[in-house]
Amino acid sequence: MKSFFPYDSVELSANGREVVILDQTQLPNQERFLHLITAEQIFYAITRLKVRGAPAIGIAAAFGLAMCVNRYRTRSLQALEKEFLRVKHYLYISRPTAVNLMWALDRMERCFYATKLGLENADEKHAIEVIRNSLTAEARAIKAEDVRMCEVISEYGFSLLHPGCGILTHCNAGHLAVSRFGTALGPIYQAQQQGYSPRVFCDETRPLLQGARLTAYELTKAGIMAATLMAQRKIDFVYVGCDRVAANGDVANKIGTCGVAILAKYYKVPLYVFAPTSTVDLDCASGDEIVIEERPAFEVTDMYYSKPMAPKGIKVYNPAFDITPASLIAGIVTEKGIIKPREIKNIKKNR
Ligand code: MRU
Repeated sequence: MKSFFPYDSVELSANGREVVILDQTQLPNQERFLHLITAEQIFYAITRLKVRGAPAIGIAAAFGLAMCVNRYRTRSLQALEKEFLRVKHYLYISRPTAVNLMWALDRMERCFYATKLGLENADEKHAIEVIRNSLTAEARAIKAEDVRMCEVISEYGFSLLHPGCGILTHCNAGHLAVSRFGTALGPIYQAQQQGYSPRVFCDETRPLLQGARLTAYELTKAGIMAATLMAQRKIDFVYVGCDRVAANGDVANKIGTCGVAILAKYYKVPLYVFAPTSTVDLDCASGDEIVIEERPAFEVTDMYYSKPMAPKGIKVYNPAFDITPASLIAGIVTEKGIIKPREIKNIKKNR
């Protein structure tokens, strides 16, 4: 599959000492790359949505952890382990809803201890080097697998489409939200490449405008038209990404997704949720157990406005996500195939 972008949204430098991200808060006006070299910079980039989207957050955190271990100057394996765990626990709480973050960091921890176990008789200098290399390789593998998963998911999602179809998407589940291609937008790029000329409706996602700023930016890059409206029968499919899939098939995604799903049900438009298995959380029985992130008031009242748009001191409730019940979802598209929400509990997760 060809990417419409000359860069990936998250990258680890060749020497493993810098995490390079495209600052998504500056889009669409500026394509500015940030070179992050501390745990605090990674944490800040994630919490302030400079890097966002469930898979991209996980990849950025894994790269961040490898980068910090590579930069930490020590001759003591014990000190390295302490620093590794400090950074891991610190990044773990940078955002609460997208399970890819915890999944990627837990995977890095398993890699640390599996590598350490094989080094019991090695001298400390050598052991430190091997652990650094192995964490760097693991973080790169997380990204490489994500790229591959997106390609496979894109093929499955593409198989449902037809030439000239209209698709509504919510938030941004494209190239920016992963590292390459996208989940919900991947099939749309594939359709464009295959000459289907899809019509894409990216609805607005307030307060951070991921739809208008990011998805519209991506679609413009790919030469795809963006518009709006469902009731006029211009939409054949709703394709959305997600941040966590619970064992009963409920999903958490950008606030407003549930409203779109209710509308889609009313107008008999099938809604598909796109999720690599790294977004599936079988430890979460249902959507009720998913922690929904609450974001700061200024994002609603002030951000993106030249003057405040709400009375001073007003109380603000700003949840970043909502839960779409399994009953509103036609299928969950994973790298293992298109699955009925109720069947998700039987899925075998990759590592
Ligand atoms: O708050 P955000 O912008 O990180 O929210 C992102 C979403 O809700 C996406 O739809 C989701 O992470 C899927 S990304 C492939």
